[in-house]
Formats: sequence, structure tokens, C-alpha cells
Amino acid sequence: MDKCIRVGFLGCGNVGSGVWRLLNGFSPEIAHRTGLRFEVKRILVRDLHKPRDIAFPEGLLTDRVEDVLDDEEISIVLEFLGGEEPAYRWVLAALQRGKTVVTANKVAFALHWHELQKAAKQSGAGLYYEAAVCAAIPIIHSLEESLQANRISRIYGIVNGTTNYILSRMSREGSSYEAVLEEAQRLGLAEPDPASDVEGLDAAYKLSILASLAFHGRVPFENVYVEGITRVQSEDIRCGQELGYTLKLLAIAKREGLDVETRVHPTFIRNDHPLANVSGAFNAVFLTGHACGEMMFMGRGAGDLPTASAIVSDLVRAASAQKHMYPTFENELYPTVALRNNTDWRCAFYVRMLALDEPGVLSRIAQTFANHGVSISAMQQKGETSNGRATVVFITHIASEKDMQKAAQEIDPAIATVECLLRVEKT
Ligand code: HSE
Repeated sequence: MDKCIRVGFLGCGNVGSGVWRLLNGFSPEIAHRTGLRFEVKRILVRDLHKPRDIAFPEGLLTDRVEDVLDDEEISIVLEFLGGEEPAYRWVLAALQRGKTVVTANKVAFALHWHELQKAAKQSGAGLYYEAAVCAAIPIIHSLEESLQANRISRIYGIVNGTTNYILSRMSREGSSYEAVLEEAQRLGLAEPDPASDVEGLDAAYKLSILASLAFHGRVPFENVYVEGITRVQSEDIRCGQELGYTLKLLAIAKREGLDVETRVHPTFIRNDHPLANVSGAFNAVFLTGHACGEMMFMGRGAGDLPTASAIVSDLVRAASAQKHMYPTFENELYPTVALRNNTDWRCAFYVRMLALDEPGVLSRIAQTFANHGVSISAMQQKGETSNGRATVVFITHIASEKDMQKAAQEIDPAIATVECLLRVEKT
């Protein structure tokens, strides 16, 4: 005899509808494999009268959150509202009532992990969030369980599909950021308000979650340096390609001893790096552990069914768990993880300048770099000289971010102007 678990939904947009479809279509197989049967008892929606693709049974939809939170038969709440509020308040209320929560909400989770986890522990409820990061890719479960025997030192993630789609098309076609974004919005591939994606915030929330799990130390969202793709020019993508590099919006987390750095910004990586071939809306996470070595996960990081895949898997895990597990963050009790200040990191750089095409100019630029400990690894002068100035592109060796910024500021504008400065991971 199958065990029946009653669940409630908070929200039923794209992801919620995907979960409904997956649960309905796939229930017999889940029941066969696990002995668990899930019954969706209530679904909270904002507007009861909105036309919907799915014909929900009479009485299932409600616009009163209490119908989900106060229903004692509902033991697991699935949250698909997105955003910080009211999702955080309602998820907290569900946990305080002892209801296990499965969420796809990276914002509420990244910002309020401590409070949510505390409430879950106090009531004995479970808190599951695989879908919050890279949707279908099982990266949360892998970090929490499968990679336990590793000290993870590095994560490089392409964790935002919208920006990866835009950069991939800019790379392939040489089109401008504005033109690709406009078309992506027309095709429904980018949000009407794309700010959170293109400004890197979506990736930063996800990185805060990944880095916290990977390093077993809480890395708050505020500690993630964020720079989006809105100022990326196709000229730089092309110049980088000619020097052997591909531009990606990377979510980077590194740990050296106790020092942890986390940053999201457009980054050049070698053309032959596995991440360089992750194109379109795909997501990927490349990590290094001291025992597992290098490893890459790739898959769909958004969409109704890919997200539902993670939600329903979490639901099965939650319903089958003998005891819910919660990650422990050592630095919430005592400082075992030193969070580096923003810009306190080292990497290589790509610098594009418009420089006077005259004797001695390059040596003066190289001297300014050298004054700040920045060493040049490759240089290319490109195209025709215009108004006496030529485009010159440098790739540096690894240097400190602060030194590079100082060197760039000290370039004498009478001989050269810095048109673009991007980071390079030569890994
Ligand atoms: N907006 C995200 C992306 C998906 O473009 O990848 C949800 O996190």
C-alpha cells in the first residue's frame, strides 16, 4: 500500500505548472519506485480567475495563504513564488508549523538561510532547495552529499542562462549586447525586466549558496562582488577570441587556506576550457576537489520541466528522509572562514587601449604596469590607426585586482586611454 503525502503549492506560474504536470504524469513511476504517492491538496495563486492552461480540479486553487499554511494534512509545502517577499515570510511560517519546504527561491534562501534553517531545525522540518541553483543540475545534492570527502578549492559556474545565451550569440554573430537582448526578450528567452540576470545578481545569489556549501562556511550574498554584462562590447569578445579566449559571465568561488573569494563578472577563459563550449541557455558548474579532481556538471538551469525535475526529486528525498539533514557552517559560530574583501583577489587581465601609434608609447605603458607589479603576457596591435591612435590589446600575467586598477588609472591619457578592462582566468 502506497504512503500518501499531501502537499501544498505556494504559487503556480511556469515552475508550479511544470511540477503539477510532472507529478501527475510521473506519479505511477514514483509510487512504483518509492512507495510514495503525492496528492496536491491546495495551490495558492494570486488571481483565482486568471485563465490557465491546466484544468485544476474544483476547489484546489485558493488565494488565501492560510489554506495552505494552516492545513494540518499538508506536510510539505512547495514554494514557487520567487523573490524575497512574501515568499520568505510564508516559507518561514510553514517551517515554524513543522511543514517541510521545498523551494526554488534562491533570493529568499540566499538572503535568509540562517533564519530559515534555524526555524526548520527547531520544528524538525526539512528544507530542500536543489531547484534554487541551476535547476535540473543536481549540484546542491552533489555538494551536500556526493562530494563530502573533498576539500573543494574552486568553483567556476555558468549559472545564469539568460546571460550565457546573450554572450554566446554575441560571440557567434558579433552582434551588440542591445540587439541580442532585444531579440531574446522578443523570443521570451529573457525577462521583460532583465536587470537581475544581466546585472549579475541572479548569479550572485546562486554563488552565495554554492560557495557556502562547498566551503562549509557561510558566504553571505553581500560578500559576492558583482558585475554584470551590460557594458560588454562585441569588439572585446572578438579581440579576446583572437587571443584564444572566450567570454563568459562566470560565478567564481575560490578557497585558499581560510581565505574565500567570491565574484561574478564577465571573464575570459581559454577557448579549450570545457566551460567555453557551454553555449546558449545551458548552465554548468566546474569545480576542483582535492580528492575528486576536476569535475564539470552541465544541464538546463531554467524552464518548467528542468526546474520541476529538481523540485520533484527534492520532494521524494524529503518524503523518504528518516531524518532531515542541515548543512553546518562553522563560521556562524566562530571565524574559520576569512571572507576576502571585495577586489582583494588576484587574476590575469585583458586590457584594451587606444594608444598613440608612436615610438616609446608601448614601453611607457609597460612601465606603468610594471610600477604596480603587473607583467604583460601577450600583446596585439590591431587594425588601422585612426586619429593617430591604434587599438592595442594586452593580456597580463596574474596580478592583484587593486594593482591592476591603479595601473589602469595611471596610464597617461595623452598617450593611451583604457577602453576596456576584463578579468581572465587562465586555469
Ligand atoms: N533567470 C535565470 C537564468 C533562471 O536566466 O538562468 C532562474 O534562476
